[in-house]
Parts: sequence; C-alpha cells; structure tokens
Amino acid sequence: MARHAVLAGVGGYLPKLIVTNDDLARSLDTSDEWIRERTGIRQRHIAGADETAAMMATEAARAALRRAGAGPDEVDAIILATSTPDQAFPATATRVQAALGVARGFAFDLSAACSGFIYALAVADGMIRAGQASGVLVIGAEVYSRILDWQDRTTCVLFGDGAGAVFLHAAEGPATPDAPGVVSTHLHADGRHGDILYIDGAVGQRERPGTLAMNGAAVFRHAVVNLAAAVEEALAANRLDRSAVDWLVPHQANRRIIDAMGKKLGLAPERVVVTIDRHANTSAASIPLALAEAVGDGRIRPGHLVLMEALGGGLTWGSALVRM
Ligand code: COA
Repeated sequence: MARHAVLAGVGGYLPKLIVTNDDLARSLDTSDEWIRERTGIRQRHIAGADETAAMMATEAARAALRRAGAGPDEVDAIILATSTPDQAFPATATRVQAALGVARGFAFDLSAACSGFIYALAVADGMIRAGQASGVLVIGAEVYSRILDWQDRTTCVLFGDGAGAVFLHAAEGPATPDAPGVVSTHLHADGRHGDILYIDGAVGQRERPGTLAMNGAAVFRHAVVNLAAAVEEALAANRLDRSAVDWLVPHQANRRIIDAMGKKLGLAPERVVVTIDRHANTSAASIPLALAEAVGDGRIRPGHLVLMEALGGGLTWGSALVRM
C-alpha cells in the first residue's frame, strides 16, 4: 500500500530579545535605512543564554504537536536541521527527543545551512513513504547570533535566531497534488560554490570555532537563478500551472529575492509570506517560522497549495510543494 506524508501541525519559537537596526547602528557603522533598503530587515530576535537551539526547537515542536492534536507518543522520528547545534554531538534532535519525553524511534541532525528545512522535509517525506517512520517532527533551529562576527557589518545585520517545526504523519495512498500532503520535494547541491558562504572554522578546529563569511553579491546571483529554476522544476514535475499555487513560503534571506520569486510565480504580493522584516534570516528556521505565522493567523488554510523554496551555504537549494 502506497503511503504519503501529511503536514498535521506547525509551530515556532522566537527569542524574547528584539534587536532593531537602530540598536545595531549604535555600535556598528551601518544604518536602519541601508539595512531596510538592501534587505527588507527591520529587526531580529536574538537568543538569550537559556535560549539554546534545543530549547527553542523543543518549544517549536511542542507547538506543532499541539496544533496537530498529537502527543509525544505519536513521534517516532525527529529530524532537526541546524548549522548551529548546541554541541557537535549528541545531536540537538536527541536533546529535543528527551525534552519531549519521547523514548522510542530515532533522532538526528541534518546540515544543509539555509536549505536545511527543505532537506529535512524531503528526508522525512521519503522515510514516511518507505514505511520507516509514521510520525516525524521536522525542525529547523538556529542560533546564528553565536557564529556571527558582530564587528562585520556585511554579515551580522542579516541574521536572527529562532526555531520552527512541523509534524508529519503517514496517510494511506500515493501523494498527489490534489490530496493533503507533501506533494513533491526537489533537492540540489553544487559544492563548487562552497566558498561563497561558509563558517571559517569548526568545533574540531581548536581555538577556531568559526564565524560566518559570505560573498553576498555572489550568493544573491545564485539565489535568483537557482530558485527560479527550482520553482519551475516543482511545477513541471507535477504538471501544474503557476496559477495552481496559493502561497509562496520562501526562505527569508533578502526581500528582493523573495519579491523576484513571487513575480516569477505571478503571485499577488499578499500571497507571499514575508517575515524577514521582523525575523531577519533565521536560516533553517525561516520557512517553518513563516509557515507557522501564516497558518496561525488563518491566511494559509486546509486545502491550500503551498510552495516552499530555499538556497543556502553549500551551495544547497531545493523546493517542497505541500497541499495543506
Ligand atoms: N551597512 C552599511 N553599509 C554596508 C553594510 C551595512 N550593514 N554592509 C555593506 N555595506 C556597504 C559595503 O561596504 C559597500 O560599500 P562600498 O561600495 O563602499 O564598498 C556597499 O554597502 C554596497 O555593498 P554591496 O555588498 O554591493 O551591497 P548589496 O547591494 O550587494 O547588498 C547584501 C548586500 C548582503 C544585502 C546582498 O548582497 C544580499 O542580500 N546577498 C544575498 C545574501 C544572502 O541571501 N545570504 C544568505 C543566503 S541563505
């Protein structure tokens, strides 16, 4: 019997502390005007000492389970996308598993930078289809504030912290564009461009935990080209016209990239979920956080077709098409 994955609930967590552009401009040679015009960002949430990746991920997961009307006993897998785990191991996913009181199944972290949530969703979808898991928490959780060089105005103004989660469960029958569920996912990577967005160190390198380094203009160019192709690919694979898409929930890296993808789909601006103004770029957390917001306020409703896309360090990129 064919199986597919249904998105049963979504939730998010944002740190309590809000840092505005003006706050940053007090200690950095930048301005609210520059940041808003180039990126669309007005503010970001920054994690406090107690707001670890595991803590935020757990809160987001609890919210997703609540929305799904599911208990921890229905979770048999946790896949957590992050570039900023609290520890190299154990995986942050296992910390979440323990905090939720889940003592069965499996849990692991996945590293695909800002595309992490799309990658994790694709892996979870595949495992559900294959019968390897039936209730999967897919989480993106990031504390980029801990890997930023706060003296580097070309990178530190762009990112924020947070976590988002979805709960997927198995349903009978094949995935189709008309039935609720994950319709398709498409993943890509091109390691030749690994040096345009990376962390210049690691836990394994003594005295060099690393900070984020980026060639912003190069990333921007790749994002526009690759994400446009990813959108086309998702539609073509399902023989859908762009008019079938009700909502675009894009990775939130730059308002100009988001607007370009909305235009590509011919979507009215109000059909594109935008959180970058308030959240900045929360990497793997940005899509589930945006989804949680738009589901929570009633914009995205059951039956709507949602297209998600992201590009990040690696380079990695991809898309997911989901009927809610
Ligand atoms: N405040 C003020 N000035 C700044 C600044 C800041 N925070 N950051 C950079 N500048 C300056 C630069 O030093 C440069 O000055 P110069 O011309 O005197 O050298 C000038 O602003 C223009 O910089 P540039 O890098 O050309 O700006 P841009 O229009 O390309 O915008 C980004 C920069 C980073 C906003 C843009 O390239 C971008 O969003 N790229 C994609 C990044 C991304 O998405 N990363 C995550 C992927 S998941």
